[in-house]
Amino acid sequence: MLVAIPDVLSPDAAARLREQIAAADWIDGNATSGAGAASVKRNRQLPENAEATANAQGQVTAALMDNAAFLSAALPHSVFPPLFNRYGPGEEFGLHVDNAIRFHSGSGARIRTDLSCTLFLTDPGDYEGGELEIEGSFGMVRHKLPAGHALLYPSTSLHRVTPVTSGERISCFFWLQSLVADNAAREMLYDLDQSVQALSAERGKTDAQVLRLTALYHNLVRRWAQS
Ligand code: NI
Repeated sequence: MLVAIPDVLSPDAAARLREQIAAADWIDGNATSGAGAASVKRNRQLPENAEATANAQGQVTAALMDNAAFLSAALPHSVFPPLFNRYGPGEEFGLHVDNAIRFHSGSGARIRTDLSCTLFLTDPGDYEGGELEIEGSFGMVRHKLPAGHALLYPSTSLHRVTPVTSGERISCFFWLQSLVADNAAREMLYDLDQSVQALSAERGKTDAQVLRLTALYHNLVRRWAQS
């Protein structure tokens, strides 16, 4: 399931964050690559232990934990501290799959990557190329979202970032372990939750059928969630 999460950051907040991190020192993007990805990755990344990274991570994590659509779609168990990358002309990240397990060197935490997420920080009008291409059951689909919007996609997917041909693309990316590992189960929960929210807005939370569907949603989460 691919889910676009609009307005994780407002356009102003995204621009401020982009300006803050753009001024920091960047390193070769292969610092966090698995062996397979390193050969196809040409970009730069903010060092994981830099002060600018910690500050930016705090802003992004707070915004995500306050976003109902993100929480409903991801059902997060553990979120890897967000990272930041930038692509200038000629830089790209070729077709790859994300590692199944990520270790965080700072905390020693280990997560299974169920979902990958890109939070776009540069407006699409400010760079050419740099689309996020993700392979799914309907073929390859290209994505380029407005600054402040995020895209959640299954970490099982093959994906790539096409070469930037002009301008610069700065983004935030991270992985997360979901309480519900199975993509199909998580997708059904998300669909059900969206419908319950819509019905609840029409009929009120205390409507008998809304209550029954709400109970069904929580009982399915109980059945499928792994803590
Ligand atoms: Ni990737």
